[in-house]
Amino acid sequence: MESAADHIEMAKKKAAYRAVDDYLLPSYKFVGIGSGSTVVYVVDAIVSRGPEFYSGMTFIPTGSQSKGLIKTAGLNMCYVDERPFINGQPVALDVAFDGADEVDEDLNLIKGGGACLFQEKLVATAARKFVAVADSRKKSLRLCTKWKTIPIEVLPLAAPDVLRRLRTMGSPSPAVRSGLPSKAGECVTDNGMWIIDAPFSPLLIPEDLSSAEDGKGRDGSWEIQTLADELLKVPGIVEIGLFYGFNGSQAAGLGKELQAQKPVAAYFGMPDGQVQVQNA
Ligand code: A5P
Repeated sequence: MESAADHIEMAKKKAAYRAVDDYLLPSYKFVGIGSGSTVVYVVDAIVSRGPEFYSGMTFIPTGSQSKGLIKTAGLNMCYVDERPFINGQPVALDVAFDGADEVDEDLNLIKGGGACLFQEKLVATAARKFVAVADSRKKSLRLCTKWKTIPIEVLPLAAPDVLRRLRTMGSPSPAVRSGLPSKAGECVTDNGMWIIDAPFSPLLIPEDLSSAEDGKGRDGSWEIQTLADELLKVPGIVEIGLFYGFNGSQAAGLGKELQAQKPVAAYFGMPDGQVQVQNA
């Protein structure tokens, strides 16, 4: 008999295969591969197409786990800082696939549950399009509802002061993530940093704002962009696990190509075996 865990794995797999079907074109050359348990199925889906499909592609990892996935699958790999230059600029990735911890109705994301958020953001913003893959548990109306904390990558030396600043911003009990049970002491990222998990009230989107609610943190109630701007000003914060703003399709119209953090679409494997696609 299939367990609940089997159903969730099947949901992730279906979402990943559908996303690859829809967004990985045979002409693509550079492809970002994110971190976590769902991207394992993205790599599976790519491999299932056979070498004639993927041998002209190079895959860019977002950390040591995805490096392992790419290598083990026998795909071509290069690090994000090793991409060839075209016209003096590092080549843009055609598309990047990654998981998410929570996705709101505007396709803002929380990421970093697996401590890989900084390289994930680097790869997502280097891509013309970013596609999120997840199971239905990640779907939410507002961020910090189901996944209650924002993962924040910090310089270890700055951790006490970052924790103090987070408390003054209305995060009641931010904490440095432990490496237990597998590692004694703090969880150390692929970049030698620590992760702080900071709880916040559910994050507002622009349509929630009103004259009575400005989203500027009164009583700890924040709008995503406003909170992100404040967090990124704190010395010692290297990157935050909020992916927000605009997506790769909107970027060109804004004159902000290769700065997009939001996915163009999120693929959710649902409990009934269907895949739900949330488009921008
Ligand atoms: C890694 O730090 C994360 O951002 C992952 O992409 C995210 O936690 C999703 O992981 P799962 O696919 O395992 O849910």
